[in-house]
Amino acid sequence: MSNKEVDKCPSDLLPEYAFIGRSNVGKSSLINMLTGRNGLAMTSATPGKTMLINHFLINKNWYIVDLPGYGYAQRSAKGQEQIKRIIQSYILERVQMTCLFVLIDSRHDPQTIDLAFIEWLGENGIPFVLVFTKADKLKTGRLNANVRNYLNKLSEQWEELPPYFVTSSENRTGRDELLAYIEQINKNLKTEIG
Ligand code: GTP
Ligand code: MG
Repeated sequence: MSNKEVDKCPSDLLPEYAFIGRSNVGKSSLINMLTGRNGLAMTSATPGKTMLINHFLINKNWYIVDLPGYGYAQRSAKGQEQIKRIIQSYILERVQMTCLFVLIDSRHDPQTIDLAFIEWLGENGIPFVLVFTKADKLKTGRLNANVRNYLNKLSEQWEELPPYFVTSSENRTGRDELLAYIEQINKNLKTEIG
């Protein structure tokens, strides 16, 4: 199901695992990799493909949510504003949002736009999990250095670091770990509800 408005999203109360990040960071690819269904979420070499809130029902039990990417420069100012409003209202209003995964391209130094987004999450008290993407594009040493560098940067602002995963949609790195993490949360929710 795809929506422009948060109030039109599925009305059942199943837990939602949302994926967000800069445009082109690899959100849709990661969702396809996790579900093992290529072509489920639309991927593209052209950034800005995901313009809507996309819900994918998994095992009739929980949702994966593909959010539009932020920071796609080629979009008009009005378009950017619209995307920002969709993202912010989903994150702030959606009570079903159980976990927010913030995707970071593992190839780069910390980018201002991602840090600003993470800071906005902090200001609004939204917990999140970091997911480093495109790990296959780097040698292990460089990859580890970049991840460490990122966490160091965050510790300048944060007392406690978020959980994080290193992934590649190309060779399925991190798939078992991410799915196990989600399954554990689902299990805990079931126990809480009884
Ligand atoms: P928007 O919907 O535009 O915001 O982008 P997105 O974050 O959904 O990115 P998408 O999954 O469409 O991937 C963008 C580009 O990066 C595509 O060309 C993908 O093939 C490539 N890509 C994504 N993940 C990986 C990865 O793990 N490894 C490699 N090598 N390429 C990747
Ligand atoms: Mg996408």
